[in-house]
Amino acid sequence: MNIIQAQNYDQLSKIGAAVIAGQILAKPDSILGLATGSTPEGTYKELVSLHRQNVLDFGKVSSFNLDEYYGIKRSDPQSYYAFMYRHLFSHVNIPGENIRLPNGEAQDADAECKAYEKLIAASGGIDLQLLGIGANGHIGFNEPGDVFPAVTHHVSLSESTIIANSRFYSSREEVPRSALTMGIGTIMAAKRILLLVSGAAKKSIMEQALYGPVTPNVPASVLQFHRDVTVVYDF
Ligand code: PGA
Repeated sequence: MNIIQAQNYDQLSKIGAAVIAGQILAKPDSILGLATGSTPEGTYKELVSLHRQNVLDFGKVSSFNLDEYYGIKRSDPQSYYAFMYRHLFSHVNIPGENIRLPNGEAQDADAECKAYEKLIAASGGIDLQLLGIGANGHIGFNEPGDVFPAVTHHVSLSESTIIANSRFYSSREEVPRSALTMGIGTIMAAKRILLLVSGAAKKSIMEQALYGPVTPNVPASVLQFHRDVTVVYDF
């Protein structure tokens, strides 16, 4: 693993954007795996800035997002669809038809997950997957458990994730109870992985993930088995 200590969040965001920009410059038709959450917001801001400076062209880029709440409308400001347009897609020239997220409005969640997994495989696979890590060690919405889920699936959110995400809602009751997420196998199939970890509150879980035993109790620990992971942290 390539582990980079940034001095602060601003530098973490610039390094994150530089890694993604390097990927796009080396392969303009890159397939990016993208993530939501507070951590990548600065990275997206830097990517938008590089695009505005004419450094970065997203014209041939495609993307697959990691996850989406289930039972939420895309027009809901809390949807990950809305998040991605707000922070990135509305500000760069990535073609709309190249943008994919699991559809949280799908009637049949399992069919949607199967179709999403197939679409990723048919695209030729993800070149660079951006990840954050949850306070409980989750990546995507792969929550701690007894197994590493292989493929995109419908998952109940753990109580700790509901509490963590309630900061975006006026009450905990409003947080969606389930989500559609890429599986650990889907994530591990990406050619490269970029994990961003911000804030000292994540220090202990990051250390467990990077240096502790590989276990589905700490889903991110599986990244120890991936051959091309860059980790950037800011504490
Ligand atoms: P955060 O979320 O970036 O908002 O901390 C990370 C995650 O839960 O994966």
